[in-house]
Amino acid sequence: MKKSSVVIAGGGSTFTPGIVMMLLEHLKRFPIRQIKFYDNDAVRQEKIAEACAILLRERAPEIDFSYTTDPKEAFSDIDFVMAHIRVGKYAMREQDEKIPMRYGVFGQETCGPGGIAYGMRSIGPIIEIIDFMERYSPNAWMLNYSNPAAIVAEATRRIRPNSKIINICDMPVGIEERMAEILKLPNGRKDMEVRYYGLNHFGWWTDIRDKQGNDLMPKIKEHVAKHGYIVNPEKHVETEVSWNDTFAKARDVYAIDPDTLPNTYLKYYFFPDYVFAHDSQHPEHTRANEVMEHREKNVFTAARAVVDKNTAKDCDFHSDEHASYIVDLAEAITFNKKTRMLLIVKNEGSIVNFDPTAMVEIPCVVGANGYEKTCVGKIPQFQKGLMEQQVSVEKLVVEAWISGSYQKLWQAISLSKTVPSVTIAKKILDDLIEANKDYWPILK
Ligand code: NAD
Ligand code: G6P
Ligand code: MN
Repeated sequence: MKKSSVVIAGGGSTFTPGIVMMLLEHLKRFPIRQIKFYDNDAVRQEKIAEACAILLRERAPEIDFSYTTDPKEAFSDIDFVMAHIRVGKYAMREQDEKIPMRYGVFGQETCGPGGIAYGMRSIGPIIEIIDFMERYSPNAWMLNYSNPAAIVAEATRRIRPNSKIINICDMPVGIEERMAEILKLPNGRKDMEVRYYGLNHFGWWTDIRDKQGNDLMPKIKEHVAKHGYIVNPEKHVETEVSWNDTFAKARDVYAIDPDTLPNTYLKYYFFPDYVFAHDSQHPEHTRANEVMEHREKNVFTAARAVVDKNTAKDCDFHSDEHASYIVDLAEAITFNKKTRMLLIVKNEGSIVNFDPTAMVEIPCVVGANGYEKTCVGKIPQFQKGLMEQQVSVEKLVVEAWISGSYQKLWQAISLSKTVPSVTIAKKILDDLIEANKDYWPILK
């Protein structure tokens, strides 16, 4: 059985230990001969990497492990780049979330002006990583889940149209796991076959069946109409308050189109006033702060403990089982599995009444040659209208980045359904430019 070599780009990420644990648990179906970490922040990466070195030494000594900030070392002799970088780290996420709030607009990692700001930071470094991969391992695949995935995907389509990159998001996976819990399916979401379409963080399920073809939608809808995607709260004690709010709010998101089941992220576009009112109770304490106080602190404390004890025997790293979709993807490519998965890909006629150049999130069949798209067909006016507006925002951001255009970025922010006026868009933009001067191209 072929053994793969993997580089994790964003080695210092809070998700890295969980991904390594998850990779170890799936070695039977996706064998690995080498794992490398790559990051541009040597100090941050070292803390995670030193702990993972101990973990790997104890649990899989046959796997070669190394970490580096040198692109040649990182990207040579690899089959997959698993990319989860956060350009500007949490300090800039905090700015993305807090700046729009000065003007009555909520701030979020991937939606609205915050997501646009993050997109403007991420395009250059993601292209740089693709170029490193192509220079040092021309046959490798990049599996990208760095955010904001919608804008990153559009940028790669425009700037590196022939590169071997697959953009993917775990939100549908997370929601499907909850659906499977509602249904009490013995093998979880893998007992379901779904039809879904949309943009990243902006989509709908239209059909969900079991392997025998029985319709599972009615039972899920009945639950969502009452509880959103909150299910077995006693089992999900670790879910933070803000995520619980989001899962609960899916009930209201669902109400506007009971023919489909929604992605949770639609709450930001359908209820921006509600989200702002909620967030504005804590304008100095946003999700970035919550993540720094919980996930970041916990992961780095756990890493430190492993290094101090020089063993990972009873370490506090948790396998991110939910991230096993990354193994599904790598396994499908390596062993030509023809696995059906939701990917962010060029529409090219799959949604027949939608821009063929849009990057859409739809079911694809993954094998050794990459992916084949399934045909979605025609979508309703409501979704089409929403998606046309949102995809235009994403396209204008990429246009603005490529051409260095202030005007295009102002248009992008103005067009976002989350922003009430062109005047407010300009104020937010001017503050974002100031905050992002180390990251964005100069806009004229
Ligand atoms: P984090 O800040 O803990 O980790 C990101 C790492 O990327 C940091 O160590 C940072 O130094 C590094 N980095 C930044 N710019 C880089 C560059 N140019 N080259 C190399 N490394 C660079 O962030 P996190 O919260 O762990 O999230 C990581 C990323 O994964 C984010 O983009 C997040 O949005 C994304 N994510 C995506 C999904 C999805 O479904 N698509 C799910 C979870 C997380
Ligand atoms: C979901 C989304 C990701 C997002 C992640 C973490 O899984 O699909 O795109 O990055 O949540 O969000 P958080 O606020 O916990 O950092
Ligand atoms: Mn996502």
